[in-house]
Amino acid sequence: MIRPALLACALVLSACGDDSGSEKAASTPTQAAPTPAEKAALLAALPAPYNAADLENGRRVFARCRSCHTITEGGPNMTGPNLHGVFGREAGTAAKYNYSTAVREADFVWDAARLDDWLENPRTFLKGTKMSFAGIPDETDRRDVIAFLKVETGYAPPSGS
Ligand code: HEC
Repeated sequence: MIRPALLACALVLSACGDDSGSEKAASTPTQAAPTPAEKAALLAALPAPYNAADLENGRRVFARCRSCHTITEGGPNMTGPNLHGVFGREAGTAAKYNYSTAVREADFVWDAARLDDWLENPRTFLKGTKMSFAGIPDETDRRDVIAFLKVETGYAPPSGS
């Protein structure tokens, strides 16, 4: 007979176990995902043109990336690196991912403008990349997927701006 308190404990392991975090990487995200209202607020706070983006279209466009990328916190690297926290991150620095020399040695921090150039044509933006993706020719699709990624990958607008 399992007592309800124990059962609750088993269901919410993270609340009961030690906090070593060793199992985090493989498990589901531990941070509560933003609510729809929080996502709408984040979207509205983005600089133009991203504040006018269509997140649903962004989600559809991201379907082209999903076979190679996860976006959740602590999500696994697949063919491509996990993209959580990519905005504000130095290119080629996701943990435990084996980048091409081109991306590893690229000397910039990802922001919306860089991502826009990259997604338009990865191969010309960083020659020698191993991301085999043809690119997204449509400007609106790029706007929408970038806004979607900002909202979904833990981007926080700089305070005071
Ligand atoms: C066929 C697999 C594949 C697809 C599809 C793909 N990527 Fe990638 N992506 C990669 C690989 C592989 C890398 C690592 C590139 C390298 O090291 O040269 C990468 C790297 C990246 C990076 C750089 C990350 C970093 O840490 O510097 C970003 C950003 C990115 N991809 C975004 C996207 C987005 C957004 C899409 C969809 C529009 C997409 N990718 C589609 C495989 C893919």
